[in-house]
Amino acid sequence: MSNETLRCIEGTRDYFGEDGNRYEKAFAAAANIFSRYGYEKISTPVFEKTELFARGIGEATDIVEKEMYTFKPSSESLTLRPEGTAGVVRAYLQHSMHKQAGLQKLWYGGPMFRRERPQKGRQRQFHQVGIEALGSSDPLLDAEVITMGLAFYASLGITGIKTRLNSIGCKECRPGYRETLKEAVKPLLPTLCKSCNSRYERNILRVLDCKHCADKTKDLPASYDNLCDCCNDHFEAVKQSMDASGTQYVIDASLVRGLDYYTQTVFEYTHSALGAQDAIGGGGRYDGLVEELGGPVTPAVGFAIGVERVMIAMEALSCCNCTAPLMVYGIGLGDAGHRAMAGLLARVRAAGMSADMDYEGRSMKAQMRAANRKNALLTLILGESELEKGIVVVKDMKEGGSQQEVPFDQFLETLRKLVPSGI
Ligand code: HAM
Repeated sequence: MSNETLRCIEGTRDYFGEDGNRYEKAFAAAANIFSRYGYEKISTPVFEKTELFARGIGEATDIVEKEMYTFKPSSESLTLRPEGTAGVVRAYLQHSMHKQAGLQKLWYGGPMFRRERPQKGRQRQFHQVGIEALGSSDPLLDAEVITMGLAFYASLGITGIKTRLNSIGCKECRPGYRETLKEAVKPLLPTLCKSCNSRYERNILRVLDCKHCADKTKDLPASYDNLCDCCNDHFEAVKQSMDASGTQYVIDASLVRGLDYYTQTVFEYTHSALGAQDAIGGGGRYDGLVEELGGPVTPAVGFAIGVERVMIAMEALSCCNCTAPLMVYGIGLGDAGHRAMAGLLARVRAAGMSADMDYEGRSMKAQMRAANRKNALLTLILGESELEKGIVVVKDMKEGGSQQEVPFDQFLETLRKLVPSGI
């Protein structure tokens, strides 16, 4: 097999060691924080009909135009999900969740696929954790969702998140704003980049978030100054609620998001440790999507957080000592000691403590080194003489730690006393 075959595909990666721990921590934090706010887990397939994403995300978006992994195993065109919202809405309708009373709060996590140019924080297979709250237009819910995202980062020890906020109006006021924007952009077109020129006709709002042309577009009319009364009231209520809870944010007229389903509130979380791809999460309200996909009018709001970008921030900030210490390392000497140690460790694990041992017939010294490498809190030592006496040596591995001989029938008690609670 060639060396190339043994490399993972460009834009994908393996997660192990410290990185694997950070990855797991991000998913565990999502389960913990989102369930605290009343969200239930949903898992949807990684591929769906292409049309679902084309209709849901929007034909004129970068994702649908050029980033989807689409394949046609039969007459039907399928696509690897580039994001989670469209699939969750499909499931919401398929399982008639809209017919159940009240708001549905759902969270998800898993791989997403976009054929983007790989760079730091931008992959072709990446992971998101996200939430969708379907069935309410209450602006307090928008504020709660934004605050919950911040609670997620905080629970991982990520500080320095900046929240950008904007309102891009609804189907009543946005057409008028689009025209206002077009008029203002027209004279600038010769000075704007190629992609802004092509977006002028197809997706004028995206001209606002072009990083190359930011200098030239910064004084364009803002969407939040062109809202209908209903959207304006909604935006004011979101801001008031965030102010009341002390949630910091900056209003940013250039924030329009890259997916077409948004209405009213849009937001993005950024972090300076990430470099050019500084969005560590983002979302907003999408009151028209359920209807667009064939369901009843259903207001909804949600966000998704990029797990790889969370991992970059965690590493940059040395957020946590991600490797959980091993509680017990067993050193069995000789054949009989080795076999008996395997039995003792089975009891240690059954009692809820983590344990490992040597399987390579190494010397006592080498096994002790292995225990140190694994940051074991305690070692158990069992050789021929201990077996004869019916005892095991329990050694506390911290500097100056004690060593004691404990009868087999009492060693679990001793371990429980020595392992600090909370690990
Ligand atoms: P999005 O802004 O496209 O929104 O993606 C959310 C987050 O996923 C981004 O802020 C970023 O952290 C991460 N992300 C996106 N693309 C990549 C990539 N190629 N490599 C690494 N990370 C990436 C959505 O996906 C919406 N579905 C969010 C949402 C949920 N809106 C409402 N509900």
